[in-house]
Amino acid sequence: MSRPGRGGVFITFEGIDGSGKSTQARRLAEALGAQLTREPGGSPGAEEIRRLLVEGEAGRWSAETEILLFTAARRDHLEKTIRPALEAGRMIVSDRFADSTRVYQGVARSGLRDVVDRLHALMIGREPDLTFVIDTDPETALRRGLARQSGEDRFESLGLAFQERLRAGFLALAREFPGRVRVIDGNRSETTIAAEVAALTRDVLARCGHG
Ligand code: ADP
Ligand code: TYD
Repeated sequence: MSRPGRGGVFITFEGIDGSGKSTQARRLAEALGAQLTREPGGSPGAEEIRRLLVEGEAGRWSAETEILLFTAARRDHLEKTIRPALEAGRMIVSDRFADSTRVYQGVARSGLRDVVDRLHALMIGREPDLTFVIDTDPETALRRGLARQSGEDRFESLGLAFQERLRAGFLALAREFPGRVRVIDGNRSETTIAAEVAALTRDVLARCGHG
């Protein structure tokens, strides 16, 4: 766990589509009185880029173009929303961040993890202080995600085998960054999961002097 800079705390939620991470991000932000944000999006410019990414055909962009669009959106989100919150000493909770690009673009699509890492170092250069991976059975998650019929199903339309590869990617990431990433069993009730997330967050904040 890195020590948060200048008093702000940056917490992210990650997981496959339909895992329940948005629900948990919202609940934790409410419990902490923290600012809630999301990716792709989280600032007016990044929300415009979001539409290019989540709507339309699955094969609309090459893997390289997709990485550039996610990174462009993240850079705007960082400049306009995340950094100002942290510099003001606030807690900010984001529904997805750079780990999503590492997994979706870097692992599941075409082995472009090295490109993802280099762009991240060049343009973003910030990791969350704490990350929750909500780990939910891919079949359950896919059913929940498609049931929403949000019109934002470009990635969900890639199917169950893709969701299974993503799940493996998130678990591998948790092993790669054991200091900041906590895996949470998402196959339980919303309230049970929220209680575990809140307790873990309180522990981490107390250790960083935010208790
Ligand atoms: P994600 O952001 O990971 O795609 P959401 O939080 O939007 O997931 O949840 C997807 C759907 O599943 C929503 O309809 C939500 O109400 C429902 N849901 C979320 N968490 C749970 C849970 N623990 N058990 C059952 N349904 C859930
Ligand atoms: P999101 O709105 O979180 O969708 P969901 O609620 O279904 O999980 O994210 C939209 C899609 O964008 C989702 O399928 C994951 C994908 N995505 C990436 O491929 N790379 C990224 O860097 C991010 C942030 C999201």
